[in-house]
Amino acid sequence: MINKYAHAVDAEIISNKRVGAYHHMVFEVGAMAGQVRPGNFVAISVGGETSAMVLRRAFAIHRSMDRGGSGGVVELVVAPHGGGSKWLTSLEVHRKVNIVGPLGTAFGIPTEPVRALLVGGGYGSAPLFGLAEVLKSRGSRVDMVLGASTAGKIYAPLEGKRAVNSLTITTDDGSAGLHGKVSDFLPDLIAASGTEIIYSCGPMGMLAAISKIAGELDLVHQCAVEEAMACGIGVCMTCVLPLRDTNGTIRMQRSCIEGPVVDGSRVIWDSPRAIPEGTWGAQ
Ligand SMILES: Cc1cc2nc3c(=O)[nH]c(=O)nc-3n(C[C@H](O)[C@H](O)[C@H](O)COP(=O)(O)OP(=O)(O)OC[C@H]3O[C@@H](n4cnc5c(N)ncnc54)[C@H](O)[C@@H]3O)c2cc1C
Ligand code: FES
Repeated sequence: MINKYAHAVDAEIISNKRVGAYHHMVFEVGAMAGQVRPGNFVAISVGGETSAMVLRRAFAIHRSMDRGGSGGVVELVVAPHGGGSKWLTSLEVHRKVNIVGPLGTAFGIPTEPVRALLVGGGYGSAPLFGLAEVLKSRGSRVDMVLGASTAGKIYAPLEGKRAVNSLTITTDDGSAGLHGKVSDFLPDLIAASGTEIIYSCGPMGMLAAISKIAGELDLVHQCAVEEAMACGIGVCMTCVLPLRDTNGTIRMQRSCIEGPVVDGSRVIWDSPRAIPEGTWGAQ
């Protein structure tokens, strides 16, 4: 089922600032802001009315603020990557774009305080700061580790750092923080902070590595997958991913509807882009 709150708005851009390799963008979305949960994403129409870019582009919601009435805002962290994201980040303040949201599943928030480790790769850190604020407001301890290929691709805003108990940075090239991949340091970080649950968002390879570690240590791992999406609303099947259901059957499921947040232990990580043997419905 598509997120029951999803709807479209013509949203005004009220801020667009370059931060390292990314753009931090703020959109006035009205009542949508009050319906957003950490982990949800939006699908944005790009290129303008006459554009050949007919497919919407998916972006994780970094934070949302319900200011009552029509003043609610959502914040996104956008990497200028291809035509659509470059067009979006080039827009001036006061321009309007059509946004559908909130879409997809959200991170589960435990009812009791927990010791949580949040792991982000590249712009995958975007939804984790809003999640950190919610977890902290419920009395949880929040440790965060952010990794990227190089220093400029770490997105860790100053106010976000205050929302966590500890922040560890890793880069593949050693240009900032610890030298290596986030997964290299996870076992030590988990042991040091007494982690009870892992939340993650980032490239599929990183999520697979975290899931392996979580499985070995018997920890719950909720991850937001970044499987390529075309429609974002469950129509096109571009985003299917092999997921194991509660009775063990593997089914190809739409990550825009069943995800992006899924239990990492449900994903068949060995073959995210192929249909694994034994999948329900496969010949
Ligand atoms: C849930 C989710 C959250 C994301 N969050 C962020 C974020 O916070 N920040 C960020 O910078 N990026 C994010 N991304 C990635 C972002 O959606 C892409 O970078 C963006 O779509 C690139 O668009 P483009 O036009 O710039 O690039 P291009 O590479 O030119 O176009 C990519 C587009 O092609 C289409 N496409 C992809 N696969 C297929 C296919 N198999 N068949 C047909 N069409 C296809 C899709 O519409 C896709 O958006 C997220 C992606 C997902 C799925
Ligand atoms: S992106 Fe179209 S079904 Fe998921």
